[in-house]
Amino acid sequence: MGWPYMGETFQLYSQDPNVFFASKRQRYGSIFKTHILGCPCVMISSPEAAKFVLVTKSHLFKPTFPASKERMLGKEAIFFHQGAYHMKLRKLVLRAFTPEAIRNIVPDIQNIAKDSLLSWEGRLINTFQEMKSYTFNVALLSIFGKDEVLYREDLKRCYYILEKGYNSMPINLPGTLFNKSMKARKELAQILAKILSTRRQTKLDHNDLLGSFMGDKEGLTDDQIADNIIGVIFAARDTTASVLTWILKYLGENPSVLQAVTEEQEAIMRSGEKGDEEKLLNWADTKKMPITSRVIQETLRVASILSFTFREAVEDVEYEGQNSKKAYLTKLPPSYLFACHS
Ligand code: HEM
Repeated sequence: MGWPYMGETFQLYSQDPNVFFASKRQRYGSIFKTHILGCPCVMISSPEAAKFVLVTKSHLFKPTFPASKERMLGKEAIFFHQGAYHMKLRKLVLRAFTPEAIRNIVPDIQNIAKDSLLSWEGRLINTFQEMKSYTFNVALLSIFGKDEVLYREDLKRCYYILEKGYNSMPINLPGTLFNKSMKARKELAQILAKILSTRRQTKLDHNDLLGSFMGDKEGLTDDQIADNIIGVIFAARDTTASVLTWILKYLGENPSVLQAVTEEQEAIMRSGEKGDEEKLLNWADTKKMPITSRVIQETLRVASILSFTFREAVEDVEYEGQNSKKAYLTKLPPSYLFACHS
């Protein structure tokens, strides 16, 4: 369980999480106790036990996160809820990502990608960091449409400080990472309040995620909107950046697949109108990429994107799986979180 309060937070977050899980598994089996981010946790690392918690007995668990993450994202964010409010948020998020909602921003996403490529010229890059920058810009476009340009730099500055504290201990004293993150979180909420107020004054319809959250009928409060905007950036950004990074790695390791993807993409670029200086991608083009799509699907299948996710038992749970000690899932105090490794 590690040191008092700190537990094994440092051991988990200072190295590849798979190394942490592998060494624990070797010592204790696929279910073991630990203590991270100020919370006692049961870590589950076998597919059978993860299926038990996330699928077959999911009604015995509720979604949760350690308190530090909840305070940073905001307690109204979708991840901490169930029932009618959760369903409403799911509907509002999905509405902003239907083909109808995103088809018109394909050329803008292409431009963001082109700007990233240009900015890499002549310098050595850290792929994951660059993918994070790219996905952040795409996230801002999907959330705020083109309105965000004015606020982009401020949003970026605050979000980057906030994310540094995501995996920090929740110690809110001057100078701690957590304290800096909480200040940045407050500033983010202020910027979002400004964007909301400008939108209300202009009264235009918007097809983006903010427009979906602000829909008159939905009746979300400003705090609920802010928590969920920050929540979606959190959910969308590192996950997508991680998939993109894995795709590049796998393509680099498989030259014949890289060749096939390149030919598919070049054929689409050649299909532009004669005389066009450079073809702008459209929605129909994205449907003509069977090889590229399969590479994305296969990467999602093979790579581990989210190392683990958290649940909290709503009542005593009994589980007796292979290689696991029954006691670990039985009669634990309610303060225990269940972290499922994937
Ligand atoms: C390929 C990249 C992505 C992966 C691998 C991924 C993975 C996941 C997983 C595993 C969960 C469930 C977590 C849990 O149950 O504890 C989740 C939830 C969620 N993700 Fe993603 N995600 C990705 C991209 C995105 C994007 C682009 C968005 C933007 C809208 C997004 C929004 C959400 C939201 C809102 C939830 C909460 C859903 C709910 O509570 O019903 N994710 N994601």
